[in-house]
Amino acid sequence: MKQFAKKILVTGGAGFIGSHVVRRLLKKYPDYLIVNADKLTYAGNLENLIDVDSLPNYRFEKLDIVDADSVHSVFSKYEITDVIHLAAESHVDRSIEGPMEFVMTNVVGTANLLQAAKDTWKGESNHVFHHVSTDEVYGSLGDEGLFTEETPYDPRSPYSASKASSDHFVMAYFHTYGLPIKMSNCSNNYGSHHFPEKLIPLMIHNIQHKKPLPIYGKGDNIRDWLWVEDHASAIDAIFHNGRVGESYNVGGLNEWTNIELVRFLCQLMDEKLGRKTGESEELITYVTDRAGHDKRYAIDASKLEQELGWTPSITFEVGLSKTVDWYLENQSWVEKVTSGSYKDYYQTMYANR
Ligand code: NAD
Ligand code: DAU
Repeated sequence: MKQFAKKILVTGGAGFIGSHVVRRLLKKYPDYLIVNADKLTYAGNLENLIDVDSLPNYRFEKLDIVDADSVHSVFSKYEITDVIHLAAESHVDRSIEGPMEFVMTNVVGTANLLQAAKDTWKGESNHVFHHVSTDEVYGSLGDEGLFTEETPYDPRSPYSASKASSDHFVMAYFHTYGLPIKMSNCSNNYGSHHFPEKLIPLMIHNIQHKKPLPIYGKGDNIRDWLWVEDHASAIDAIFHNGRVGESYNVGGLNEWTNIELVRFLCQLMDEKLGRKTGESEELITYVTDRAGHDKRYAIDASKLEQELGWTPSITFEVGLSKTVDWYLENQSWVEKVTSGSYKDYYQTMYANR
């Protein structure tokens, strides 16, 4: 195998955030081998990487991280030197309907990767296992305050409980075995290639097609939104320059209630689609609240900003406008990723290339 400076296993690279991380690493570090290992669940689509998948430093492995033997095989096949771990079941509503898949992928899958890294690296310190996690592990905030890295864990959904458990395993492998880990806990991401079950891409799709806009409860829950490419740049900074054994919060100080955000999207899209002002807002429909719905998330990212000089690159207004434009220009992507038959077709096509 050609000499690469690093051989990085990126798990979940066919998903929303993972595809942005893979794209950034492939382009910025041509001397790194990037091995994208992904099970290709409903949320993983190789279509997300079609613009970069012919680059010489890219490899794809279809891998279920729950299968420990296969995880070990990928480590030895590519002599993996580093891991950026994003693979997960990521949707809170799905975790309420069916928690066990979340336990398997998020907890058992993470433990399998940690074990393979420990067995392969054998105590060497010149490696990094970067675990990508969420602010949801901290629970729910009241009207005041921000999550810091010292906020006690208080997960409240099956999704966040599975991510909190995975975080604890990561820290346990650092403390017990000296595995060189780094961790990041990020707020809500938005941007291109976001599967249209999450709030922002679902609302864009429904506004475009004049379908009801389902707002859970009163719409007064608050989320702190970050441009996905800024999350990718934060992961890059932490992976390279963060301190081993530390976690870093990532967020953009950009809080919105869900209803304010959806109204803003409606205005933006009325303008872009040439509709009369207020037309799309008429689609707003209040529906039964999510069980155990966390009230507010908000991140204090000052550790990341002060230690590593990271800051978000664009405002929410600019990022949301670019996101809407991407969805309006890529309607075929939405149709493809929401069609099961397309996935089978594309996997066959990819295997034959
Ligand atoms: P996503 O659902 O878009 O993508 C997840 C990817 O993981 C998919 O490509 C899927 O095929 C893959 N995957 C799922 N199960 C797998 C398995 N058993 N083996 C191998 N691959 C598997 O998720 P996302 O929104 O891109 O999130 C990526 C990571 O970032 C997750 O760990 C998530 O917890 C974390 N995170 C997400 C956000 C957010 O706002 N989306 C915020 C903070 C942290
Ligand atoms: O905070 C980081 C987390 O953000 C990530 O760890 C998760 O992987 C990611 O899915 C996201 O979780 P949320 O539950 O916050 O995202 P979601 O897009 O599902 O919902 C955002 C808010 O919008 C939440 O308060 C629920 C509400 N909502 C969501 C949907 C899908 C609605 O009101 N209507 C909807 O149809």
